[in-house]
Amino acid sequence: MLNSILKNAAPVEVSEGIFSVLDESRQQTGFDRKVLGYDALVGNRFYNKLLWGNWPSTYHKFCETALAQSVDKPVIDVGCGSLVFTANAYAQSDNQTIVLLDRSLGMLKRARERLKKIRGSAPDNISFLQGDVFDLPFADNTFGSIMSAGLLHMFDKKKDILKEFERVRDDNGSIALSSVVGNTGIGRKYLALLEKTGQTGKSDTSESLNNLLNSMSLDYKLCTQGNVAYIESL
Ligand SMILES: C[S@@+](CC[C@H](N)C(=O)[O-])C[C@H]1O[C@@H](n2cnc3c(N)ncnc32)[C@H](O)[C@@H]1O
Repeated sequence: MLNSILKNAAPVEVSEGIFSVLDESRQQTGFDRKVLGYDALVGNRFYNKLLWGNWPSTYHKFCETALAQSVDKPVIDVGCGSLVFTANAYAQSDNQTIVLLDRSLGMLKRARERLKKIRGSAPDNISFLQGDVFDLPFADNTFGSIMSAGLLHMFDKKKDILKEFERVRDDNGSIALSSVVGNTGIGRKYLALLEKTGQTGKSDTSESLNNLLNSMSLDYKLCTQGNVAYIESL
């Protein structure tokens, strides 16, 4: 399946069932070492509720909604991580063609293991691909639904990411993104810490993210819950 939608890229299998379009020199990332810690902290319900004002079930529903947007075109989750919130949604969608893309091989391995555990075997309809959000290896207009949760806030060059999503989205396709934002004092403080330690880009509020979308004339709506902005194409 992957080969039919890739643009000028020959993916290499770098781990069982996981392919990469990155040079060998770019296949390791800092996230590889953080996978278990990420799952334990970020997957914790109370961490999410207290810091970001959301229960994990909201992230799960967001993913289910994004999946439901495309019936006959492929779906992609960019920066899918370890599927700590979304594994069940993907495990249930066995009649869709799905690409789970992440820069971290460690995250992809964990994601695949999770799905195998739920489904009993690796799902045939899902491809695991190591790649870079700034250079998605797909032809224009490929995807019926593009989802990306918790990736946007990691970078300052958000416009480049949004342009890349627009490029690979089918004319009738949809985009669903989430980003943590510093709307409240606790969110701002935590994001300042993440920014200082190089884990995120310059932090946004819902308002500054909305301004960015407007400056690009993107027909998106942004809704906020706590310190998470949910952005969907209209
Ligand atoms: C905060 S985590 C979010 C993971 C997942 N979407 C979730 O909600 O749990 C961000 C993810 O983006 C991935 N990532 C970082 N830089 C990336 C890049 N340049 N291209 C694609 N993925 C990237 C990381 O490896 C990590 O899995």
